[in-house]
Amino acid sequence: MLAEVVSILVLLCLAINEASIVRTYSDEKGTERFNHLVVDKNTGRVFIGAVNRLYQLSPDLELVIKEVTGPKEDSPECSVLDCPSSVIKKLTDNVNKALVIDYTTTRLISCGSLFQGICSVRNLNNISDVTQVVKEAVVANNSTASTVAFIAPGPPNPPVTQVMYVGVTFTGNSPYRSEVPAVSSRSLERDKMFMIAETAVTTGTRMFVNSLARERYPIHYVYGFSSEGFSYFLTVQARTTNPSPFISKLVRVCHDDENYYSYTEIPIDCTSEDSRKYNLVQAAYVGKPGSDVASELGITAQDDVLFAVFSESDTSEGDISSKPSSNSGLCVYSLKAIRRKFMQNIKTCFSGNGSRGLDFISPSHTCVLTVSSSAIINNNYFADVKNVRFKRILFLFVTKVLANLCDI
Ligand SMILES: *[C@@H]1O[C@H](CO)[C@@H](O)[C@H](O)[C@H]1NC(C)=O
Ligand SMILES: *[C@@H]1O[C@H](CO)[C@@H](O)[C@H](O)[C@H]1NC(C)=O
Ligand SMILES: *[C@@H]1O[C@H](CO)[C@@H](O)[C@H](O)[C@H]1NC(C)=O
Ligand SMILES: *[C@@H]1O[C@H](CO)[C@@H](O)[C@H](O)[C@H]1NC(C)=O
Repeated sequence: MLAEVVSILVLLCLAINEASIVRTYSDEKGTERFNHLVVDKNTGRVFIGAVNRLYQLSPDLELVIKEVTGPKEDSPECSVLDCPSSVIKKLTDNVNKALVIDYTTTRLISCGSLFQGICSVRNLNNISDVTQVVKEAVVANNSTASTVAFIAPGPPNPPVTQVMYVGVTFTGNSPYRSEVPAVSSRSLERDKMFMIAETAVTTGTRMFVNSLARERYPIHYVYGFSSEGFSYFLTVQARTTNPSPFISKLVRVCHDDENYYSYTEIPIDCTSEDSRKYNLVQAAYVGKPGSDVASELGITAQDDVLFAVFSESDTSEGDISSKPSSNSGLCVYSLKAIRRKFMQNIKTCFSGNGSRGLDFISPSHTCVLTVSSSAIINNNYFADVKNVRFKRILFLFVTKVLANLCDI
């Protein structure tokens, strides 16, 4: 019942939102592709990462600074550090893959697909002022492979020290890309900027997918967030290493963990009341619930909840397709319930049953007896949205809808 109410209001709010655009900004030619947008919570300044451009706008969306970041001469055969003169380079677009504000140092971190996927650090008051360009492959090196990055507490001394958590789709073997982890925590200290926060011979704050699986069954990173001592990624991937249905997963690592021993994955389901499975997560946001949703989920309005929109696989191919259909669902999960599921899974894992997650991760990381009976996170709240395919959750909008149902 409540689900029906929400879906009607979602459409209503969409209509209201479109009718009341207050300000707009377009690039002069209107042709640049915008990839990421962040808003400084202290100043209201708006930063946009685009193809070959970075923009700094005022809170009123007036252009303040436009930086040209590409195209530049590049080749996949060049290392991050240098390029032999024999390599033929060609003019390559620089696609923004990550844009993150580091509030501790008031810097803007932006990473692009050029030069094996490196990042630069800029002054948050003036993005022309580049304080560091770090020659370390961090993000995906092509226009389509996914990258998710966010800042949260991490080694060496959480919660005082912050690190950048990065999830990256594998883009192929090469001397320069093979060593980029699927998930890692990277230092934000000036003298070891973007290096893996902690490293030892075989461990450290990084996770690789085994080399056979990572090329054939890429993991698509959709969203990342931190909540109560843990960092999480939402992903879409094939269920096992055999051709199999696509599922969505939550990946989790503990902030205190210098070796990613706590790295765990659990499938996440979004199922409607008539038992239809929406298997492909498209976008998500972590926020606080309004009073109605909080009581529905049995939590308080101060507890974190995960809002996530999912699509069904394109029906012509069934759930073995990662192509989304136009049927979408919005599911809401309490982080409390999510933590319980992880705990349940880890308990079965240590009692010798189940696995820590992926068959993809190197065998040393799985539980003793791999029976693959991991817990599944189920939604306790579902809203059906017909014939709409979500690409992004506009967080204010969704929190508002679910918090107060548009104040109606
Ligand atoms: C930003 O810094 C550059 C030099 O680093 C300077 O030329 C420019 O005027 C500054 N822009 C603003 C808006 O302060
Ligand atoms: C990304 O890296 C892979 C592995 O080195 C390479 O095959 C591919 O061409 C690169 N992509 C681009 C757009 O440079
Ligand atoms: C980027 O890399 C992925 C993984 O190798 C590949 O599937 C995809 O086609 C590449 N995209 C482009 C535009 O080359
Ligand atoms: C492992 O799980 C299976 C199936 O869920 C169950 O039958 C078995 O008793 C469990 N074993 C242990 C040691 O918990």
